[in-house]
Amino acid sequence: MTKDFQIVVTGASGFVAKNVRKYLSENNVKLISISRKNFKKLKNETKIISKNYDERIILPKIKNSFGLIHLVGIGKQSIKNNYNLVNVEFTNKIINLCKKAKIKKIVYNSGLGVYKTNSIGYFISKYEAEKLLIESGLDYTIFRPSYIVGKDDLFTKYLKRQIKKGEIQIPGSGNYSIQPIYINDVCQIISKSLIDKNFKKQTLDLVGPESISFQKYVKLFSKKTPTKIKKISLESAYHDAISNTKSEFGVDDLNLLVGDFKGNYRKLQKITKFPLQSISELLKSGRLF
Ligand SMILES: NC(=O)c1ccc[n+]([C@@H]2O[C@H](COP(=O)([O-])OP(=O)(O)OC[C@H]3O[C@@H](n4cnc5c(N)ncnc54)[C@H](OP(=O)(O)O)[C@@H]3O)[C@@H](O)[C@H]2O)c1
Repeated sequence: MTKDFQIVVTGASGFVAKNVRKYLSENNVKLISISRKNFKKLKNETKIISKNYDERIILPKIKNSFGLIHLVGIGKQSIKNNYNLVNVEFTNKIINLCKKAKIKKIVYNSGLGVYKTNSIGYFISKYEAEKLLIESGLDYTIFRPSYIVGKDDLFTKYLKRQIKKGEIQIPGSGNYSIQPIYINDVCQIISKSLIDKNFKKQTLDLVGPESISFQKYVKLFSKKTPTKIKKISLESAYHDAISNTKSEFGVDDLNLLVGDFKGNYRKLQKITKFPLQSISELLKSGRLF
């Protein structure tokens, strides 16, 4: 990629954004990264700090960029931050910014499990956001990720904290499955989606090659440590999620787990055209520690 290839990243201090920015910066892509709070600037990067993504500040700087990667999103609601405001309304605001700035390509992370009849509020908001993108007239790529895992994602950090305490708690049976994808693969795929025509107007599950039970994942993750694995009742996990704002699992984290969603890896593979990291191999290698 050349230096003139300018990309805008929203939600710059988030987990996926941090990794994607690093990847693009190392590949000499010119970046305009936007966040509500201060963050460390990378090579080839211009920072924009704006609490409300003020159009007067942002628009002149992002004009005529090649593409925008929209990584603002929440998976847990509060009185200040609800799904409609952040996942739907904010996406609409970013789409309008793209149009005004003449940015033609937008890449968005939705969620694995989005389909018309899903009744969970989180997925409904992601569905609405997807609809806005599809109807926007822009060239879009919508990814529906399962768990994106790296050294510093929330799930991995949770498991590391539990290991330190000597016990990992699994809500319910742990037999529900997840289909994690490695962050390094995600960075490459997102980057490729900006320029590769095969990604044009596509909605793709962003999943790894293996669907693995939560229980097995936790076992492999903690294999080399003397950690006890304890199953806790789903009822008490939900109760904690509902009543305690600091609970490890939010209500929708539990909904996502119990939902047992499986993604179409083959379709992703056909378009990405490179093999993705096996999650069990990754866990065995200890690279997430
Ligand atoms: N990580 C995963 O496994 C996973 C799985 C499925 C879907 N996704 C989706 O992928 C996207 C990125 O995920 P992530 O894991 O990187 O999440 P993250 O670490 O929580 O980052 C999301 C970012 O969104 C921005 N944000 C949150 N509330 C906002 C608000 N009210 N106004 C403006 N900005 C706000 C924040 O950016 P600043 O603090 O920089 O302003 C935050 O860092 C999200 O849309 C998420 O739903 C992620």
